[in-house]
Amino acid sequence: MIKDKRSYALSELAIEAKGLVKEIAGNRIVDDVNLRIFKGTVYGFLGPNGAGKTTTVRMLSTLLPIDGGTVAVFGNDLASEPKEVRKRISLAGQYAALDEDLTGIENIIMIARLLGYSQSQAKKRAETLLRVFGMEEAAKRQVKNYSGGMRRRIDIAGSIVSIPDILFLDEPTTGLDPESRNQVWQMIRSLRDAGTTVFLTTQYLEEADYLADRIAIIKKGKVIAEGTSSELKASLKMGVLRIRFADWEERHKAIKILAPAVSENSNPLELLYEVSDYTTAMEEIRKLEKEKVGVHEFSYGQPSLDEVFLQLTSYSESSYQDQPKERAN
Ligand SMILES: Nc1ncnc2c1ncn2[C@@H]1O[C@H](COP(=O)(O)OP(=O)(O)OP(=O)(O)O)[C@@H](O)[C@H]1O
Ligand SMILES: [Mg+2]
Repeated sequence: MIKDKRSYALSELAIEAKGLVKEIAGNRIVDDVNLRIFKGTVYGFLGPNGAGKTTTVRMLSTLLPIDGGTVAVFGNDLASEPKEVRKRISLAGQYAALDEDLTGIENIIMIARLLGYSQSQAKKRAETLLRVFGMEEAAKRQVKNYSGGMRRRIDIAGSIVSIPDILFLDEPTTGLDPESRNQVWQMIRSLRDAGTTVFLTTQYLEEADYLADRIAIIKKGKVIAEGTSSELKASLKMGVLRIRFADWEERHKAIKILAPAVSENSNPLELLYEVSDYTTAMEEIRKLEKEKVGVHEFSYGQPSLDEVFLQLTSYSESSYQDQPKERAN
């Protein structure tokens, strides 16, 4: 008996993009992106702010015209057969698209009615989804009084009223507390296991590591790395020496002694170095010891996906110099 439906679905391409381009005011926001996404998988699309994730999602989901390249969604051409494509997809955008004056349950019922459900079927479906997302109580209140996390969950619930063949989720867990994030993760896994293809953008590496079958890393509109999480980690080839300092001052001293860190991770007391082997790692530590730098702890090992990401997108280089963007979706 085949337990995992994915095992026989993996050969079919859900999305195939070749040379995808979006140009805005002469800038290539999405620049020659190629994607091969198999049916029944979760595809993680990672990138720093302004990398082009939302723009890509909006093109793939027919909301934004493409300026170059071709996209096939289950063999249907995105540009010439958008209606066919729309029948098979659903989207929860980066910013929740809800009617603020309606309650949570009314929003879901409205979506279900638009999809052709009868009033009683729509109510039943809404109740089921709200139960899954732990929103039964909150669902009776107007959306304008919701917290960001509640909005997000109602929006995601709305995107799966009718289970789509492809679900686009643009940063679905940004701003969610750990419990709500877990609910969304479980929902994504069960949809995937039932055959839905999920295109997931995220800034959380842990999320991509946990959920995604394959991951693409995008920077300034270009895919700069692609593979499974393990392939991406192995691609750095080197090991990572992580050094944690007693305080800022000690870290500052270390920067002067050792070469500048290859990447700084999000922990302000740490430094990361790519080193070829354990012996080199120890040599670096001894240099610090000799100068009496207060090292709190250190380790040498395989890079985490976080470190691969920081290395590839080199965080220190400004990703904050983006042009102002339209927050339209
Ligand atoms: N309508 C627009 N007009 C001008 N520039 C735009 C427009 N839409 C997007 N951009 C620019 O395109 C780039 C990519 O934007 P996009 O929203 O796709 O990034 P993102 O990867 O989703 O970022 P974030 O992580 O912040 O959501 C940014 O530099 C943005 O300023
Ligand atoms: Mg975005």
